[in-house]
Amino acid sequence: MISRSTDKLRFLHTMSVSAHVLRCEPSSISFSADDELPNFDDEVTRASLTAAAHQIKSAQAIGFPTETVYGLGALALDASAAARIFSTKGRPADNPLIVHVSSQRMLRSLLPPTYAPSRSYEVLMKRFWPGALTLLFPSDPSTVPQIVTANHPTVAIRMPSHPVARALIALVDAPIAAPSANSSGKPSPTRAEHVFKDLGSKLSLILDGGPCTVGLESTVVDGLNEDGNIRVLRPGGVTVEDIEGALREEIGEGSKVPRVLVHKRDFQDAAMEATPTTPGMKYRHYSPSVPVTLLYTSTSPPPGMASTTLSDLFASLKTTHAQRPVKVGLLVPSDSRILLQTDEVSGLEFTVFYLGAVSDPAVTAHRLFDGLLTLEERGSDIILVEAILEEKEGLAVMNRVKKAASESQWISF
Ligand code: TXA
Ligand code: MG
Repeated sequence: MISRSTDKLRFLHTMSVSAHVLRCEPSSISFSADDELPNFDDEVTRASLTAAAHQIKSAQAIGFPTETVYGLGALALDASAAARIFSTKGRPADNPLIVHVSSQRMLRSLLPPTYAPSRSYEVLMKRFWPGALTLLFPSDPSTVPQIVTANHPTVAIRMPSHPVARALIALVDAPIAAPSANSSGKPSPTRAEHVFKDLGSKLSLILDGGPCTVGLESTVVDGLNEDGNIRVLRPGGVTVEDIEGALREEIGEGSKVPRVLVHKRDFQDAAMEATPTTPGMKYRHYSPSVPVTLLYTSTSPPPGMASTTLSDLFASLKTTHAQRPVKVGLLVPSDSRILLQTDEVSGLEFTVFYLGAVSDPAVTAHRLFDGLLTLEERGSDIILVEAILEEKEGLAVMNRVKKAASESQWISF
């Protein structure tokens, strides 16, 4: 059954110069008991996925939905197909790709025959797969092309939970390499429209499975170190608190529960910083084409930095365009104190995109990239994003926002 409004899609179809946007209804897809082959209740969805699988098998790159963000997928084990991902995104060759699998059988086919996952990895896969968690595994260079791993000894793998993504991988019957489906450096797409606008002229096909439920990328975890600890290289859809809870519950008393260490918060790694093995360490990331300023409203500035008032900040923004009102995009929680001071500020025109309540960081995560892309689309001259607490999904939200922002300001009320 197709229930989603098709107005926007019709618009996309008429505008389409190259990419075909094919509709999929995620709820019409189910999987047989062994989790391998998909069943379709809806013929449109079956036809869309069949066409997409055909494109991938022909070594093309296509746009497709996952529960985190839209991906730009191509055959992971075919170096020339994987190369299309890099050229389409303008992605630097030293930034490795995540490989997506739809079954444990497919996972095993990628790993060195002698490798056995640790107890921690077994727990993490049991609790969070399929889902928004990417794990680093030792790579078997005789199987995984070096272009995918960017010559690293490890390969990043995840099993997505989105029915369209799982069905696509299962129909192709081979692992799919997929970064987020955006030009390198831009915010990740959470709707098919975002992919179309950015990469539509470079792709032949985009699957539209509706908005992504998580809204920002998977958590990238390295648990291969000898100390047995879990290192979070990129916070994401699965929270650090959830990972800690799962390890505590499943490994339990008596055995040593691994620690969960977050990069930059709990550990530094100079070698890793020199290579872009997690997003934004070496390259610009998540930035729309307009400047983004991060506003801290409930923490005091670090030593040497002064705070400012909103009225002083707004006064300074007015000077950026003498001839016309300055268009200010506001990406703020729905209960933000900033909103109390935006009425009738002369010379400024506000467009507000709400990030959900302060107490609900999962909603903020879901809306963040959509907000950045929407405010850019609406012609903002500058986007102001309000900081939230770095807890639960807020850790991943702030990781992305700090990288998107060219400047930070501390606001005193
Ligand atoms: O949710 C997601 O992870 C999305 C969807 C499409 O699955 N994909 C995604 O891919 O965000 P991408 O390429 O935008 O980000 C993956 C990050 C890269 O920045 C890369 O540095 C890191 O994962 N990565 C990949 N392989 C790695 C490896 N072997 N070691 C360390 N980091 C790795
Ligand atoms: Mg990305």
